[in-house]
Amino acid sequence: MDKLRLGIIGTGSVVREIYQYLYFSSEYSHLLSIEAACDPDPKALADFCDRYDIPASRRFTSYQQMIRDVALDAVQVNTPDHLHEKPTVYALESGLDVLVPKPTADTVGAAHRMISAARRSGRLLGIDFHKRDDPRLKEAAARYQQGQYGQVQSSIWYMIDKLLVADPNHSPRFFASPDFAEKNSPISFLTVHMADAFFGIVNLRPVAVRAHGWKQKLPSLSPIPVNGYDLCDTEITLENGAVAHIVTGWHLPNTAHATTVQSARIICTDGMIDLGIDTPGYHELTSEGIVERNPLFRNFEADGTVTGYGMSRPGRLYQKFLADRNGKLSPEQRERMMSSVELGFWTTVVLEAAERSLACGQQTASGSVHGTTIQVKDLLQEALGDSAKAYLEESR
Ligand SMILES: NC(=O)c1ccc[n+]([C@@H]2O[C@H](COP(=O)([O-])OP(=O)(O)OC[C@H]3O[C@@H](n4cnc5c(N)ncnc54)[C@H](O)[C@@H]3O)[C@@H](O)[C@H]2O)c1
Repeated sequence: MDKLRLGIIGTGSVVREIYQYLYFSSEYSHLLSIEAACDPDPKALADFCDRYDIPASRRFTSYQQMIRDVALDAVQVNTPDHLHEKPTVYALESGLDVLVPKPTADTVGAAHRMISAARRSGRLLGIDFHKRDDPRLKEAAARYQQGQYGQVQSSIWYMIDKLLVADPNHSPRFFASPDFAEKNSPISFLTVHMADAFFGIVNLRPVAVRAHGWKQKLPSLSPIPVNGYDLCDTEITLENGAVAHIVTGWHLPNTAHATTVQSARIICTDGMIDLGIDTPGYHELTSEGIVERNPLFRNFEADGTVTGYGMSRPGRLYQKFLADRNGKLSPEQRERMMSSVELGFWTTVVLEAAERSLACGQQTASGSVHGTTIQVKDLLQEALGDSAKAYLEESR
């Protein structure tokens, strides 16, 4: 087999911004044959299918019907986070491999059911955390894991968007719905990227999570105010006693030098890592102001090819799916792909724990919320019962 027959479940914003290029204009496109697409939203479905000449007979509103009617090897589930579980489990149980954009799911229970379905079915599951393919983070991970910096003690990560991302008064709107930042928090959209990148470097698990949040800027917006968090600080205690803060938000002035201002420091017993994530080396000065471009993530090349780690991370997962179909994925590679860290389980733990922590906090008169500490062991016990043990005792 030289191509995977792929069905697309969900053709919304992430497909428009990232995956259409992976499917049709990347160095991985020749490995994929886009056989069918499915979305209950007729506009989202037509926008994608019309652009890429997907015939009417291969357009579906139900993923079950698409999977029943079309011969496929894999699907990509591009639905909102809280809707990843059902199509993923259905596809795995139908004998297909599944790729999901980050995060794996919005709850530990859903992530567990997806991972269990993959292990039961013997099919592959891959999660697209694109930062895992950022060459700077890969280098940091390799050196950290060789012991060059000793062990992590303290770390700070930040990832803060321009206000236009969360502001429904901005035209054009970044997200379609005016209540986007009321229904979603910076934790589910941004903290998960940094938590996953951090775990990828230090290869340690969280044992406790506490979150703080601020609702000060968003409620002051006009004419449409937003009852949502501007900023969240998620404090994570790791199994070796290290403490990390992941600070994420979406209220920086729109004059910021990048849509997402982001960076990190990891301070260890024998050295430190200082990651200038939003300064990839291309600094543009025009009449509009100063902007940092990030060609490492997505680069539109002169010949029409789109490259960068936004393409290579999911592309390399598809290479592994194809290798497996051709009997060329080694048992070691497969085992690594299917570990709980690789499948983003611990990142979902941080997501659910931080949101629970905030939900337990009381909002002060000044708009700050200080959550309680959530013990990961208790969260897993409550969400998974007897199955929690397998994650807590999993060897690495
Ligand atoms: N890789 C990244 O950096 C990145 C960036 C943005 C979003 N995401 C992730 O991508 C996923 C999708 O986000 P989005 O911004 O595209 O959301 P979106 O709301 O724009 O699009 C989701 C689409 O899924 C469709 N959908 C819902 N239920 C469906 C079902 N049962 N079957 C088929 N389609 C269904 C919706 O109609 C919608 O068109 C989320 O998990 C999000 O966190 C990842």
